[in-house]
Amino acid sequence: MGRKFVVGGNWKMNGNKSQICDIVSFLKTGPLNPETEVIVGVPAIFLDYVRVNLPENIAIAAQNCYKVAKGAFTGEISPDMIKDVGVNWVILGHSERRQIFGETDELIAEKIAHALESGLKVIACIGETLQEREAGKTEEVVFRQTQAIACKIKDWTNVVVAYEPVWAIGTGKTASPQQAQEVHRALRQWFCDHVNASVGESIRIQYGGSVTAANCKELAAQPDIDGFLVGGASLKPEFVNIINAKQ
Ligand code: G3H
Repeated sequence: MGRKFVVGGNWKMNGNKSQICDIVSFLKTGPLNPETEVIVGVPAIFLDYVRVNLPENIAIAAQNCYKVAKGAFTGEISPDMIKDVGVNWVILGHSERRQIFGETDELIAEKIAHALESGLKVIACIGETLQEREAGKTEEVVFRQTQAIACKIKDWTNVVVAYEPVWAIGTGKTASPQQAQEVHRALRQWFCDHVNASVGESIRIQYGGSVTAANCKELAAQPDIDGFLVGGASLKPEFVNIINAKQ
């Protein structure tokens, strides 16, 4: 069975109700390729508002959640809370969580395991820094990040992996289609070798990092790129063109 193309928009810490109305409006106008799964990653405080206003054919993701169900964890939200407002996805392991907030491979894996156990689907982000790439450590880093997750979960059905080279995020420096394909191919092989061939074949691997309407089609044409996780461009009408990159 083919892998369904999946495009996520990660709004990060951007937007207010007025801007959200504009985004909802261009997403409603589309038209969106019905063959592509679309997910928007929304700041926690707006999850409920967006769920009420966005058509059901567009899924919503939280941008973070904690590793337990409830308790004295001021400022955190749980998978159960996310589900309670009708949201089914969460983005975990984003490089901004790793780098700015010091989240470790192990904590991210624990969060992913708990989110899956709670019934959420997960976009699990991995990716190397510029320094790591220049040191020839790209595969070592993304394999280590993926292995940490594999230590905590057995079932990858509800996981989408987002390969996001840190040096390409928000910089305008997209990985070339060849660079991205090379890492996606290596990751798929890693899943074949370290999980099983079925997961290797079926797992969807998104590319993220300065994806725009201008570069999305060439990236989408790569055999192991199954979609995108889009930051800045997901706030603009060009996000519709990125969703339709496979057409
Ligand atoms: O989650 C999205 C990535 O961080 C990419 O962000 O498209 O603004 O480079 P960007």
